[in-house]
Amino acid sequence: MSEQKIVVLGTGGTIAGTAGAPADNLGYTAAQVGVEQLLQAVAPLRTLSLISEQVAQIDSKDMDFQVWQQLAVRCAHWLAQPDVQGIVITHGTDTLEETAFFLQAVLDPAKPIVLACAMRPANALAPDGPQNLLDAIAVARTAGARGVVAVCAGTIHTADDVTKVHPYRLDAFGSGDAGPLGVVEEGVVRRFRPWPCAPSLAPVGQIAGAASWPRVEIVMNHAGAGGALVDALVAQGVHGIVAAGTGNGSLHHALEAALLKAQASGVKVVRSTRCASGKVLPAPRDTIADSSGLSPVKARIALMLSLLA
Ligand code: SIN
Repeated sequence: MSEQKIVVLGTGGTIAGTAGAPADNLGYTAAQVGVEQLLQAVAPLRTLSLISEQVAQIDSKDMDFQVWQQLAVRCAHWLAQPDVQGIVITHGTDTLEETAFFLQAVLDPAKPIVLACAMRPANALAPDGPQNLLDAIAVARTAGARGVVAVCAGTIHTADDVTKVHPYRLDAFGSGDAGPLGVVEEGVVRRFRPWPCAPSLAPVGQIAGAASWPRVEIVMNHAGAGGALVDALVAQGVHGIVAAGTGNGSLHHALEAALLKAQASGVKVVRSTRCASGKVLPAPRDTIADSSGLSPVKARIALMLSLLA
């Protein structure tokens, strides 16, 4: 059997960012360094069998469906190669949880896809990217690993649970009530629960062929919320709306009335919660479906994929 390889796909982010001054951890520019250069900077990786490909070079706040489409297609291509053991994707932290969820939903890969990131740019005084990359590759090389996961600060999170929980500290991600999947210690994975495995929400072939994507927007409930935003979205022809409700998905009566009107007119409406942990628990008198535990941003992706299907 030929040597098993790891494919590293670059998409940009702070892990590939550079700052004008090494101590500047805020005024840097993301997505400046190529993925090959990032790998070369990590000495222990130089002896491994790696293939690198630059799929995009963006700040992940600008992530869009074209990049997701391309990423899903490249992942599907490499996963199908018998000598590829797994994939690592370098990615910005800001929308990492969305990309992770999207890839798990369209690929449900039997091999690992590991998202690697950083909270400090590549030329910072103490960059965290090299260790995160090393850890991500260790996860991708772990026997039996499967599914889409993210690795940051030595912790492994599944695509379904991962959420960015801090805008500055190095350990920026959490997995809510579920807790992390495991940790990486000196290149060895210590797992607390099974690798992710979830039914695919839309086949990758359908994603690759989509000329346009359904428009799904998120509307938040808050004190004084009204229905004007929802009415405007419906007037613009929105296909779906995720309501980021308060508490157990509760909605201001004016917002709820507008959402029910939208729903009656054929717009798909789903209720999530703006709470950082937990899920909306369904109740008998619900008039708007809950998001089955998905956060607003992930519920939006699930709704888009279901509309696409
Ligand atoms: C980005 O998301 O691309 C910039 C921020 C980061 O990676 O931490």
